[in-house]
Amino acid sequence: MSQSLSGRRVLLIIGGGIAAYKALDLIRRLRERGAAVRPILTKAAQEFVTPLAAAALAGQRAHTDLFDRADEAEIGHIRLARDADAVVVAPATADLMARMAGGHAPDLASTVLLATTLPILIAPAMNVRMWQHPATQRNLATLTGDGVSVVGPNDGAMAEAEHGPGRMAEPGEIADALETMLTARSERGGLGFLAGRAVKGSLAGKTVLVTSGPTHEPIDPVRYLANRSSGRQGHAIAAAAAAAGARVTLVSGPVSIPDPAGVAVIRVETAREMLAAVEAALPADIAVFAAAVGDWRPAEARGGKIKKDGSAVPPLTLVENPDILATIAGRTEGRPPLVVGFAAETDDVLDNARKKLAKKRCDLLVANDVSHEGGVMGGVENTVHLLGRDGALDTWPRLGKDEVGKRLVARFAELLSKAPPA
Ligand SMILES: Cc1cc2nc3c(=O)[nH]c(=O)nc-3n(C[C@H](O)[C@H](O)[C@H](O)COP(=O)(O)O)c2cc1C
Repeated sequence: MSQSLSGRRVLLIIGGGIAAYKALDLIRRLRERGAAVRPILTKAAQEFVTPLAAAALAGQRAHTDLFDRADEAEIGHIRLARDADAVVVAPATADLMARMAGGHAPDLASTVLLATTLPILIAPAMNVRMWQHPATQRNLATLTGDGVSVVGPNDGAMAEAEHGPGRMAEPGEIADALETMLTARSERGGLGFLAGRAVKGSLAGKTVLVTSGPTHEPIDPVRYLANRSSGRQGHAIAAAAAAAGARVTLVSGPVSIPDPAGVAVIRVETAREMLAAVEAALPADIAVFAAAVGDWRPAEARGGKIKKDGSAVPPLTLVENPDILATIAGRTEGRPPLVVGFAAETDDVLDNARKKLAKKRCDLLVANDVSHEGGVMGGVENTVHLLGRDGALDTWPRLGKDEVGKRLVARFAELLSKAPPA
């Protein structure tokens, strides 16, 4: 195991949710990577795991009480808030997120979170309906706006026999996200939550909206039309924009890759849901439409599973989906100053991309060849061509999608500095 967090001191706040048991594994994983972990348990967390278990795994005492006299004399809540390199909240309950977003400090965990200037990573975990509630989504937007990084939640089966987003990210994913957050912060030249509001970076103070992944268009409750997009390129752009100091909202179709750290992620399935989420996330300084949105959807999504009963094969009639890029780029009011489109083509890549640029009225088009032999769709590398409105063409060598993301973000920053204000 690499000592990738060697010398790092992590303050781990454990909230009161079912996933608290996974926080114990997180302590173990962080220590395996070389970090020292100081646990704080909320009162509710102690209903699920004991301070003794957390302390035994951390190899140091666990803190629980704001008004603990011995604790206050020994270290004190303000020093707790300072004596670390990062704060991780796992699981972050809906209630704790609300306290953080509202600036409330009724207990040790929330007081420390309010008093700290360290970078904060939260791993939300809750019932899918609690997660999707507008109040939680509002709090999430406030927190990411304040510079808090977020990992997960993941999709999957939940404790209450429900399914959907709300499961806490796995301990390994949280440790990875912590590493990414600490690296990004040190590259930006400033550690700290408050410093994070005035981050340096080519997109500091800018808001960026990115779409990513495929769409799923239902045929019936078990079948859907989709495409091979993995979301890797869109997610890499979102991660690079966050690392460049932007506030990033990522509207993602169904993907199996982790959320980028420091980005607010809105999950959708269909093209129509994606358009609605994009509209809700605007205004933005830059909008990047990297998702592979299905051009068509079944005219009718059946309420029950279509049966194979020996009669005729059922016909599949398709209707056109809304064109998200053209809708936003063609706007006169509220159009982001920089609108970037993607063209995934299998034939006549540049010719088709030029036509798309003119038709959709975006400012920059990123074209790539997604024919099967190239392995771009679903793969980790990409060869892109950049087409500007002025007809300029730039072709980059084959690069990892992360590197393409970083280079694109640098190009966006350059173009935005020249774009007329919205
Ligand atoms: C069995 C049980 C499981 C719970 N699981 C969660 C959960 O996964 N996520 C969540 O946000 N709240 C959950 N709650 C509710 C929280 O425990 C409650 O909101 C509490 O105030 C959170 O306190 P804390 O944020 O200080 O940890 C659960 C409650 C119970 C009784």
